[in-house]
Amino acid sequence: MTSSLVIVGRVILFLTFLALVQSSNAVYNVVSYGAKSNGRTDSALAFSKAWSAACRSTVPATIYVPRGKFLLGAIVFRGPCRSRVTFRMYGTLLASSNYWSLGNSNDWILFQYVNRLSIHGGTLNAQGATYWACRRSGKSCPTPAKTISFQRSSNVLVSGLTSFNSKMFHFFVARCTNVRIQGVRIFAPSWSPNTDGIHVQTSSGITITSSLIKTGDDCISMGPGSKNVWIDRISCGPGHGISIGSLGQYANEEAVQNVTVRNVVFTGTQNGVRIKSWETAYPGSVTSVQFRNIIMRNVFNPIIIDQEYCPSNINCPNKSSGVKISRVTYKNIKGTSATQVAASFVCSPSNPCQGIKLRDINLSHHTRKLAVTSYCKNARGSTSGPVLPRSCLT
Ligand SMILES: *[C@@H]1O[C@H](CO)[C@@H](O)[C@H](O)[C@H]1NC(C)=O
Ligand SMILES: *[C@@H]1O[C@H](CO)[C@@H](O)[C@H](O)[C@H]1NC(C)=O
Ligand SMILES: *[C@@H]1O[C@H](CO)[C@@H](O)[C@H](O)[C@H]1NC(C)=O
Repeated sequence: MTSSLVIVGRVILFLTFLALVQSSNAVYNVVSYGAKSNGRTDSALAFSKAWSAACRSTVPATIYVPRGKFLLGAIVFRGPCRSRVTFRMYGTLLASSNYWSLGNSNDWILFQYVNRLSIHGGTLNAQGATYWACRRSGKSCPTPAKTISFQRSSNVLVSGLTSFNSKMFHFFVARCTNVRIQGVRIFAPSWSPNTDGIHVQTSSGITITSSLIKTGDDCISMGPGSKNVWIDRISCGPGHGISIGSLGQYANEEAVQNVTVRNVVFTGTQNGVRIKSWETAYPGSVTSVQFRNIIMRNVFNPIIIDQEYCPSNINCPNKSSGVKISRVTYKNIKGTSATQVAASFVCSPSNPCQGIKLRDINLSHHTRKLAVTSYCKNARGSTSGPVLPRSCLT
């Protein structure tokens, strides 16, 4: 009885295997194109060749990256491709720790003009420490390269990818539609400069879920033109929190609209949920934002809108922000603040924040000994349910 079940099981396995082989009969192993898994030989050319072949395939193509360490210089994976391309990654891609080797490239790994792309698994190690040291030393350093960028692409799925020690942003998504990033893990030290986890701008239909982000800057940041963004089940910290902005730095910025951030735990971060704009008169807007089901653990600014953003406080434009912020809901936000001002709404005098809603907020000081407060400047809105600290919205 048992052995016949085993046989049936094997037949099913074999059939599944056949089906898999037939459904994606285009498999491109980077090693067959000359990639070396020794961590020392630059394999960018081999990856490019594998990409070109996969991108030309008329049936869905898989690029297979086996275990091992592959050193890669700056590389562009450019579409359009004829069919879906899937990366199956088991190995680690390494950038050289000699940051000059990427030249002045803005990106280490760049996908452009690709429709229907999936990336499963794998590790990216940008080895950014030497670059951070260059920046700290005040020497002249090349343009920092973002680890992985998606530009002008659509229908992209990234799952189970791990990224370490970016030179600046880890993930960058711009001019894309329908991008899903799930189950990724991002690590950089809390003191590393500009190592944002995931930055999105001028893109629509962006979903970021079930991810762990520990970094030196924003865990997730959404720049101008971020629309229909869904962020769910994220653990953030260390880092600067989840931010909309900075906005208002340039003229003609697109609106930020329809952003949901939910089921997030912030641990020891500089901010929790933040919206920020520079003190410039450039117009812009943020509307329809929901922050809900959020736990703060010892967060410096758990809830913050800052329309007087000027981080180093030098040469601040000192104007009333032209960015209009409206319809922002904060619901079910609990936990502890590292500072007494647990909710701060510093809005523009010429464009007061409107339609701020606070509902079921319960923040306390991490020592439990001090009372927490809220601070408002030009902030209008309403509350419902228990709200602690007490609201100062008008
Ligand atoms: C808001 O964005 C979500 C995705 O995050 C989308 O499902 C929904 O349709 C969008 N709503 C509007 C009104 O566009
Ligand atoms: C900013 O502008 C205000 C009014 O225009 C002025 O009173 C203030 O001194 C300015 N601050 C700085 C730092 O320039
Ligand atoms: C707020 O949370 C504290 C514990 O963190 C709890 O003791 C208190 O009852 C809560 N208040 C409300 C209004 O839920």
